[in-house]
Amino acid sequence: MEHLFEAQQLTPKTIKQIFSVADELETRPHRCLEGKIMASLFYEPSTRTRLSFESAMHRLGGDVIGTENAGSFSAAAKGESLEDAIKVIGNYADIIILRYFEKDIAKRLSAISSVPIINAGDGAGQHPTQALLDLFTINRELGRVKGISIAMVGDPKYSRSVRSLAYLLGKYRDITIHFVSDPKLRVEKDILEYLDRHKIAYTESNTFDGIIDTVDVVYRNRLQKERFPNEKLYEKCKNALLIDRAIAGRMKEGSILMDPLPRVGGILPEVDDMPQAVYFKQPYYGLLIRMALLKHFLT
Ligand code: NCD
Repeated sequence: MEHLFEAQQLTPKTIKQIFSVADELETRPHRCLEGKIMASLFYEPSTRTRLSFESAMHRLGGDVIGTENAGSFSAAAKGESLEDAIKVIGNYADIIILRYFEKDIAKRLSAISSVPIINAGDGAGQHPTQALLDLFTINRELGRVKGISIAMVGDPKYSRSVRSLAYLLGKYRDITIHFVSDPKLRVEKDILEYLDRHKIAYTESNTFDGIIDTVDVVYRNRLQKERFPNEKLYEKCKNALLIDRAIAGRMKEGSILMDPLPRVGGILPEVDDMPQAVYFKQPYYGLLIRMALLKHFLT
């Protein structure tokens, strides 16, 4: 694996290796990336992904260069193409972390980049490092991935986190996925075809009644308002499928409630101190996973 642009590239064997490096770096952090430089190139807003990658690089002894608002602060503002920028940045950095608003861009650029590119989110496409940290969270909190049932609630249509996690779960056995959303926000066909091919059971519904109390994981994700075709759809959906204390209290014993964050209304703050709420642990697991990924690509 020279670049990471989509979750399908990750095999269970590679995932296991990355998880064990993450475990190792948690207990024995070491400065294995001294002398290496990571470029973080973000054309879309980010808090967790950019800062956790940058923190991960610093913690491993490496250096970071970059621009967090690349559309305005890089030569893109003068009209330079992303292709040209990637060719140039390959001279300055050993790895590029890229977030951009166009689907499949990281895959396309990996063909011309002289250094590894990691997709940190490509429009409504994929977010493979988020899926990896989500899977790591499930594994840490439940002690297994195989055989789990998960409800993906909110916006399966436009969420790149949902797409990448569904693709990743498709690699494990006996998984059941329930997509819960407004009919206008149903999961895209490519995901369903992939799940069919991998013999993963799934359902689609408008409500989590009959689902929320049976699954091992509830994965709530915010409505991706910035990708909606119109404001009307957002207004219609914004108050639906909210998770408050009463709803979270219906979850089965030992199950977990996740969110890639930002939550923006999906889960109410009154849920935060409930035992099932693990969404503020995910950013910590994300730091470990991104340290492991940087080590994987740079050593
Ligand atoms: C996600 C993203 O950017 O896709 N955020 C993140 O990286 N944790 C989810 C989102 O914005 O809803």
